[in-house]
Amino acid sequence: MAVTQKISALLAKVQNDFIGLDTVYTLADGTKSQRIYLDSTASTLMMGKVFDLVEKFLDHYANSHSLLHFSAKISTNQYQWAHERVLSFLGADLDTYTCFFTGSGTTAGINRLARVFRDFRPDKDIALVSVMEHHSNDLPHRKHTGKVIHIKLDNYDSGQPGCLSLSDLEENLNRFKDRINYVAITGISNVTGIINPIYDIAELAHKYGALVLIDGAQTAAHMPVKMSGHNNPNRNIDAFVFSGHKTYAPGSPGVVVCRKDILLAIEPEEVGGGMVEDVYINNYIIKNYFPDREEAGTPNIPGAIALATAIEIMDHIGMEEIYEYEEILVNRAMERMLDIQDIMIYGEKDLTKCTRAGSISFNINGMHHGLTAAVLNDYFNIAVRNECFCAHPYVKELILDDMLEAVSELSESEIETKYKLLAGMVRASFGLYNTMDDVDALITALKIISINKEKYSNHYHVDDYGNYVHNTFQMDSDNHFSIPNMLIEYLTKM
Ligand code: ALA
Repeated sequence: MAVTQKISALLAKVQNDFIGLDTVYTLADGTKSQRIYLDSTASTLMMGKVFDLVEKFLDHYANSHSLLHFSAKISTNQYQWAHERVLSFLGADLDTYTCFFTGSGTTAGINRLARVFRDFRPDKDIALVSVMEHHSNDLPHRKHTGKVIHIKLDNYDSGQPGCLSLSDLEENLNRFKDRINYVAITGISNVTGIINPIYDIAELAHKYGALVLIDGAQTAAHMPVKMSGHNNPNRNIDAFVFSGHKTYAPGSPGVVVCRKDILLAIEPEEVGGGMVEDVYINNYIIKNYFPDREEAGTPNIPGAIALATAIEIMDHIGMEEIYEYEEILVNRAMERMLDIQDIMIYGEKDLTKCTRAGSISFNINGMHHGLTAAVLNDYFNIAVRNECFCAHPYVKELILDDMLEAVSELSESEIETKYKLLAGMVRASFGLYNTMDDVDALITALKIISINKEKYSNHYHVDDYGNYVHNTFQMDSDNHFSIPNMLIEYLTKM
């Protein structure tokens, strides 16, 4: 039975005003329906008001490095506002922290900070990360820092991994003491949606002299963050990174908030125009103020402004209200999925032990994740992501038991092949625009699929790339969006 949630008038207004909520596709059975978007953990849809205001801003668009003309002043002011907005959104005290925008989402910001932290404390060569990290919060530390140690996850009676294990973290902090430069942890897993206790992690890390970097890619849009101002200053966060493409402003403007004293202690990692006072043939003088010092080159001004607009709106709704709204949605989806006999949900399922936000990853027993995702798309118009979500070590750990069962009879080389074939899961992920109707649609679809596995399987074959492809249905060309095709008329008819 549909459950309705009480929400504020502002949340209701914003929720109904996203670009792409009414996108229609034709399905494999010939019917047309509105897409149900459950892939927000990969990229969120764009807020309507953000689109509207960024479009208006484009009337004034100019480079923030130009200073004098009217548009340059407007552009520069709005871009500056974007920085202030991010700092206030994350509860980061203006005297202590600065904010700068980077390219390509959270990945660019984490790569940057890995180099900053390395140069800030070159005598410390170890970074601690968790097993549940997205590659973007693992590989940059492997490449730039020196040694990376993967902290274990809590394991409860269920045998399914939960949050980062504080005891394993402390053991490693204690064992490697002076060698540890920083702890880099995701606030919320992009696979299971499990929420890590970031302030407890910070307290522990700081007790042992380590810095703390939070990968906030999945956190920023889903729950309140308070980087500074904790009664115990050890609970403050040293650096936090997130991106617009998971916070209702597409185009992946990555953004870093970091303690200024760390950045001031070293030369900026990136150099170029905009961050220097003056340049001579043999020398250059770097600006000593933020954010200019950290922003070499022309920034993604519309992206930054879009992100700031989205978080201004979210702050007005209230991140607590957003968190509570989505928590009910995700928990309800989990409970109802657990009622479907054939569904395996990954990660600790007891919500009293491990809270979740944003994502639920699962498989239907006996069905390949690629097939489940294809059927959800082609027959139910439900957009989900499948495979390993750029978090291979974590996904491998989560599916280990199923894998062992599946491969117990095989030789080692067969296991390798089989592993590549089976590894992966399906992820349903939620954003501000999702409602209980979307949860109902997902549950209904999963029930139908799980009792008709053979029927659906018969409609598909696996292509040379391992993708499940429908035997007769392909996306209708009416539905196919192509900018080159749409340009033909413009370019040829005068
Ligand atoms: N990191 C994104 C995801 O988890 C792309 O899907």
